[in-house]
Formats: sequence, structure tokens, C-alpha cells
Amino acid sequence: MKLSPNQPCWCGSGRKYKKCHMALDEKVRLYKDMGIPVPPHKLLKTPAQIEKMKESAKINMACLDAVGEVIKAGMSTQEIDDIIYEVTTRAGAIPAPLDYEGFPKSVCTSINDEVCHGIPDEHIILQDGDIINVDVSTILDGYFSDSSRMFLIGDVSEEKKRLVQVTKECVEQGLKAVKPWGRLGDVGAAVNAYAKAHGYSVVRQIGGHGIGLEFHEDPWVSFVTEPGTGMLLVPGLTFTIEPMVNMGGPDIYTDEDNGWTVYTEDGQPSAQWEIMVTVTEDGCEVLCN
Ligand code: MF3
Ligand code: CO
Repeated sequence: MKLSPNQPCWCGSGRKYKKCHMALDEKVRLYKDMGIPVPPHKLLKTPAQIEKMKESAKINMACLDAVGEVIKAGMSTQEIDDIIYEVTTRAGAIPAPLDYEGFPKSVCTSINDEVCHGIPDEHIILQDGDIINVDVSTILDGYFSDSSRMFLIGDVSEEKKRLVQVTKECVEQGLKAVKPWGRLGDVGAAVNAYAKAHGYSVVRQIGGHGIGLEFHEDPWVSFVTEPGTGMLLVPGLTFTIEPMVNMGGPDIYTDEDNGWTVYTEDGQPSAQWEIMVTVTEDGCEVLCN
């Protein structure tokens, strides 16, 4: 559908198209005509939608803060799940993982060689020296947020600490590549180069995702990409940066019994941090971390 300049903008702002998204659409069109994949309108969040996502993100980050205050050896991952459920529901929100495609709990807790999607359990007890990823996702009034952090349990080896630190820096490198009119492949390329330079490998089969009105929207965000490839980064495009970085090789497998938990094939540790970011006119903004 082609809008005329004086019609209301497609984004619902109530402003005339020519005063709102018209110039942006024209610019995107030039890239599209060059054969570059561009995001459809529904992936471009409006300022009003970004505000709602930030409200959701506040709760998401409060969950992670609450976990950070009490997490320690001897605690079960079920206790982490209880905290997430409590903090989220008390704020009037819903834990997005709960019942998501059959996932049974409110949060993912992935320890050591678990890459992602670990299921909290009262029998899984945190041990001195563990590293754990706590991956929290929140729905508030239909708006999604998603972020994860690593926690060190007690006395962690220098090599595991370094994996956790470098993985955090991988996300920072990816973030630096998020610029309007750049390409999504620039982000994964930055992440992968940094991980490789430190002797680590990046999981290929699982990545980040668009987010906002759904948990997992387009685009899929690989962290093993070439620069100058992939979707055009247009202001309003909102997605996660969440590389899984392995100390050993990149290969993984999924637990056949529970159908969820992903492990490294070689049994070596894996780390992950996740942030949610939106492309802006002059760079980007982190909405959740
Ligand atoms: N939170 C994960 C992500 O970052 C998705 C988990 S899906 C679940 O995309 F069902 F395992 F929760
Ligand atoms: Co995510």
C-alpha cells in the first residue's frame, strides 16, 4: 500500500506520513532496490512501543538484580526460578518462558557446559566454582523484554572467569557495530572475530532475535556472520545480542530427555550474556541488559 504524504503515518503516531516515516521509507527503498534485505514495517518499533518495551525491561533487569543479590553455592536453580516468578508477577508482568513452547519454568538457568535453556530444578544445586547463565524474559502489557547475565559461584577458576569476561566483551563489540544503515552481519562478525581472537568459538545453530510484540521476531541474529551481509539496520529495528561462546569447539547437542537443555559437545564450559538493543537515528540504545 502506498501512502500519500498527507495521510496518517502507518506507524500509528497520528502524524502525517510526510512528517513521520516517509523520508525513512524512501531511504530504505533505495537499499531494497540495490537487493539488500530490509526490515518490513512491522519490525520497526515506534517511540511509543520502545517506551513500553523499556517498562517491561525494567522488570526484567530487576529480576536479574534480585538474583545477583542472593545467588551462591548451595542454592538450587529452583530457588532462582522462584525469585523470577515472584519479582515478575508482583510487578504485574508474566515470565515469558513459562509455557513457551512447553518450557516448564519461568527462567533458563544454564551451568558450566550447559550452553542455554537449562531448566531450573530443586535437585540442581549450585557448586563452588560454577559459572551460570540466568536468562530472563518478561511480558508486560504484551511487550517483551529479554536479557541474561552470567554469575560466578564462589571460587571460580581463572580460565572460566576469563571466558565469562571475554563473552561480555563480545557483546560490547557487537553493540559497537549496531549503527543505522549498517548491516546485521556486521554485529555477528564483530562478536565472532573477538571470540576467535581469544581462542574461543561461537555457537552457530542458536542466536539472537528480533523482539517486541513477540518473544522471537525476525530477524534471526547469527553471531557467525560476514561483515556487510544480512538485514539492513534501520532505526526502530529491535533485537537481542546474545552470543554463546564456548571455551572449546562450537558443537552442541540437546538433551534428549527434557528436549531443552543444550550442552557443549566436548563438555567444555560455555558462557552467554544477552542484551536487547534498538537502532536509533544516530547509533543505538540498549533497552535491557
Ligand atoms: N530467553 C531465551 C532467549 O534469549 C529463550 C528461551 S526459550 C525458553 O531467546 F523457552 F527456553 F524459555
Ligand atoms: Co533472547
